[in-house]
Amino acid sequence: MESRTLGSQGLTVSALGYGSMGTAVGYGPVDDAESIAAIRRAHELGVTLFDTAEMYGWGKGERLLGRALAPLRDDVVIATKFGLTRSFGSDSRPEHIREVVDASLRNLGIDTIDVLYQHRPDPNVPIEDVVGTMKEFVESGKVRFLGLSEADEATIRAAHAVHPISVLQSEYSIFTREVEPLLPVLEDLGIGFVAYSPLARGFLSGAVVSRDGYEANDFRRHVPWWAPENFGGNRAIVGELTDLATRKGATLAQLSLAWLLARGGDIVPIPGSRNPLRVEQNLAAADLTLTAADLAAIDRIAPDGGIGGRG
Ligand SMILES: NC(=O)c1ccc[n+]([C@@H]2O[C@H](COP(=O)([O-])OP(=O)(O)OC[C@H]3O[C@@H](n4cnc5c(N)ncnc54)[C@H](OP(=O)(O)O)[C@@H]3O)[C@@H](O)[C@H]2O)c1
Repeated sequence: MESRTLGSQGLTVSALGYGSMGTAVGYGPVDDAESIAAIRRAHELGVTLFDTAEMYGWGKGERLLGRALAPLRDDVVIATKFGLTRSFGSDSRPEHIREVVDASLRNLGIDTIDVLYQHRPDPNVPIEDVVGTMKEFVESGKVRFLGLSEADEATIRAAHAVHPISVLQSEYSIFTREVEPLLPVLEDLGIGFVAYSPLARGFLSGAVVSRDGYEANDFRRHVPWWAPENFGGNRAIVGELTDLATRKGATLAQLSLAWLLARGGDIVPIPGSRNPLRVEQNLAAADLTLTAADLAAIDRIAPDGGIGGRG
């Protein structure tokens, strides 16, 4: 698979990464053996970037990813995140970051975190103090590269002035385009971009069902795209996108990932799937080329993304 460079500090990864949130939380029942097989299949097919976070099962997701990647450690880039609390608040106090980073290293079973992200800005802790703390880990060798997630322009600029930020991770897909005004800013600053939920949390996967079809603890039951007043309109958009994909001999998920790859040379989508076959299907997107006419057709079909917003 093609490589892409994120930022100006030497972080190079596969054009498509692997998002492991669903292996621990959010999308219904999990089968650890199948998740491990999916992670290893991604690596066999050329994926080098693997994404997790403290809050994906509060250690469970990191432990599973660490187990799956243990035999492959030297071949892969492992990214994790700190800064959320169990009640969905923020906690980026320096003492808390230190505790979380040490726990993440233990959970993942590694000596160095390749990419450490602040998961969300913390309104109670100045970003300069947060990045000042993250920088200490780079200096001590516990972390290689720094990232932010869902940060705005002012936060990114202030952070980057304390220590180079290599990557911003925010939601980006055909259904969620609100990050686009930030992309030229990132380019100017020499910061790469990781697109999370690139399949719109499964709405663009080809396997969407109405919200009642998901398990009680599946968070899509609360996402506005699935609300009854929006679901039909979003299904119609997906129907047109699927027709376009079919005409190109591709799946909807492949079209959606290829669209992101075509938006910029330093954009790396991180689709998630707990199933080896679905991983394989999705990664074929790296070989799908979209023409200017395809991109224009996608803009016509979904000019404002998904109806109802991501919540
Ligand atoms: N920074 C942040 O705040 C943040 C927030 C959310 C996510 N993330 C990261 O981004 C990664 C990806 O986002 P995501 O997992 O939310 O959503 P996603 O990649 O947009 O979609 C994942 C969903 O699509 C399904 N799926 C994937 N490929 C499929 C296929 N070919 N056919 C049918 N279904 C398919 C998956 O189910 P199966 O697993 O059953 O295949 C899963 O339910 C996460 O894993 C996480 O690492 C970061």
